[in-house]
Amino acid sequence: MEAGVEHQPDKEGRNRRSFLNRLWALLGMIACLEAGWLGTSLLRSRKNRSLHAPSTEPIDAGAVEAFKPGSVTPIPRGQFYLSRLEDGSFLALSKTCTHLGCSVPWDDKQQKFICPCHGSTFDKTGEPLTAPALRPLDYYPLRIENGMVKVFTSRVQSRSSFEPEQAVGI
Ligand code: FES
Repeated sequence: MEAGVEHQPDKEGRNRRSFLNRLWALLGMIACLEAGWLGTSLLRSRKNRSLHAPSTEPIDAGAVEAFKPGSVTPIPRGQFYLSRLEDGSFLALSKTCTHLGCSVPWDDKQQKFICPCHGSTFDKTGEPLTAPALRPLDYYPLRIENGMVKVFTSRVQSRSSFEPEQAVGI
């Protein structure tokens, strides 16, 4: 190389550098868009969670006379079942299977809850009849006030077995 002559990057090198700069700019923009999308999703899910958070106010399930002894009634507003036992007492049962959390429907013909996911069954007190679920359905405290059944869905109770004190008499 001659003295005084500067080495000039060739055209191919300049093109490569320019391409890499554009690629970095593009990746930066994609990262910014993803961060924005993630932030928006987090805010949206927080907002939805607070909209669906269980109320601390009791839910009016209905008048005592509306539930026959021995019946199980879904209360869609509170996402639970109101089970009126043969002795006339009430139990508010969670719809969530204690195995892996599927929603458990009541089968009136078979007189039991049958989980569609893995076949666990529960009786009207929430006690498991068939595995894989080993624990009873959770229940909610309730109170009978002026002939109305009021259920506190913000205070879910788990248990290892059904005890008669969990049911509320009139
Ligand atoms: Fe109900 Fe598995 S989630 S049996």
